[in-house]
Amino acid sequence: MMSYPKIAPIDVPIPAERQSARRHYGVHPYFTRRPHNVVRSYILRYTREKDVVVDPFGGSGVTAIEAWLENRVGVQNDINPLANFIAEGVVNLSRGSIRDYTKALSALRERCERKLLAVERMSPAELEVLRQDLKMPRNIRLPRSSDVLFYHELFSPHQLASLALLKDAIDGISPSWLRRGMLLAWSATLAKVNKTFLSAEGRAESRGGSSIFSIYRYKVAKMPVELPVWQTFEERFSNVIAAKAEIDKTIEVKQRTTGWYGKFESYAEDIDALARRLKSQADYIFTDPPYGGHISYLDLSTLWNCWLDQMPSDSARGRELIVGGELAIQESSYVRRLGDAVTGCLSMLKKDRWMSVVFQHWNPAYFEAILSSAASEGAELRTAISQIGDPIWSMHKKKGSESVLAGEMILTFIKSGRRTLTPVSNDFDVSDAVKRVLSEVEGNEIYGELLFNKIIIAAWREGAIRSLGIAKSDFIHLIKKNGWHYDASRHCWARGLARGEASLFADAEYQ
Ligand SMILES: C[S@@+](CC[C@H](N)C(=O)[O-])C[C@H]1O[C@@H](n2cnc3c(N)ncnc32)[C@H](O)[C@@H]1O
Repeated sequence: MMSYPKIAPIDVPIPAERQSARRHYGVHPYFTRRPHNVVRSYILRYTREKDVVVDPFGGSGVTAIEAWLENRVGVQNDINPLANFIAEGVVNLSRGSIRDYTKALSALRERCERKLLAVERMSPAELEVLRQDLKMPRNIRLPRSSDVLFYHELFSPHQLASLALLKDAIDGISPSWLRRGMLLAWSATLAKVNKTFLSAEGRAESRGGSSIFSIYRYKVAKMPVELPVWQTFEERFSNVIAAKAEIDKTIEVKQRTTGWYGKFESYAEDIDALARRLKSQADYIFTDPPYGGHISYLDLSTLWNCWLDQMPSDSARGRELIVGGELAIQESSYVRRLGDAVTGCLSMLKKDRWMSVVFQHWNPAYFEAILSSAASEGAELRTAISQIGDPIWSMHKKKGSESVLAGEMILTFIKSGRRTLTPVSNDFDVSDAVKRVLSEVEGNEIYGELLFNKIIIAAWREGAIRSLGIAKSDFIHLIKKNGWHYDASRHCWARGLARGEASLFADAEYQ
């Protein structure tokens, strides 16, 4: 039987497969979903069957679902009710048969399709009358960064009435697992039926997405598109059925071969509380904590949490690991809590087991918080792999070019119990390090992210990460100074100066 400390760690990047290879992850949108094949490869390398795999910042559940489908105990946790709604919703699809679902759809069609078409043609006065009979979501205040003040303003009166009518009908479905499956399709419909939905130019109106996922705020479209609600729901439903078929097949193959004993657990705790609950129970942790202030998960999930009647408590909101957001959480608090989160993860992990933390940010202090907490808790950093070149670059990366970090670093530790105090040195020359890394590049291209990650790890190994104050602009400048230019079409740095830049670097300072 394999001995955990002898496992050879994954030391090369794993090319990310497109989401379509595992359709169940496509049933409902969520933020920053990790590529399932990468997560699965890590789980398979560091664990064996029946091991407990925990993701304390589980998001839409990729880690726990992959673990579950690979005959492990997948433990999902997230402070965001929407995240658990999606993860549990996907696992729940293993219950019942496809026929149960299609029968439920027929009954729903019978009950709602004509009514929904009629709603689309109703006058404001008629809509007002209809609304009296429907259960409406609370009209709460939205985050300050939103284009509109209140929740109901995210919808046209037709959208609001149609979604309420459909949800009322779904709420009456039993048994509860079937209702949950139908609600997953409804919730995915909600993502498209609201005023933040933007159609993709030159494609069918229904292709597109919400500003919530592209620019991370409630931006109302200048010319909102009103998709037909029943048709949109049926399309989302067909995704749910495809996902169910895929999950059923995976489980059936397991049953025929190795046997099926995958288990799934789900918690809605703040990381600190989870660490107390699961002390020394994890065989492996794969996790992807929030990267600073870019995405306020709880604020942005209000669109779903409000209507699903699962708004997080004020205390949960105060515990969200972010910088900023509605509660204007300070960066110093984020850095301290990020370090504490790593300490918490390690208290859940058994001795001699592995932990992988996915991270990316321009701020070396964030990496320091992760790395120094791990070192003082007896976890040794074994590999730091840059996963870059995802097939789909984010819109943010496409627009922001060289100043945006895409992809991420996967830091893998073993909890050997050997606590190390990192030596502290102030003697790290970033300029030299950039030059060294560039001189080691084979070929003519390098991703900026890979270069930055190498600098971070080099500074850490030399005990100098604390002194590594480097701004984006300095970093970009240093690369250019070494005779490289940014190729925006390939999202990477290429050898040689771009036309017109040679003169910029001609003075002595840059030689
Ligand atoms: C980067 S996302 C994880 C995405 C995930 N890897 C996936 O593939 O879907 C980080 C998650 O951490 C959650 N989170 C933030 N603060 C938390 C806390 N204090 N405790 C637990 N979860 C938290 C957020 O709600 C968010 O879903």
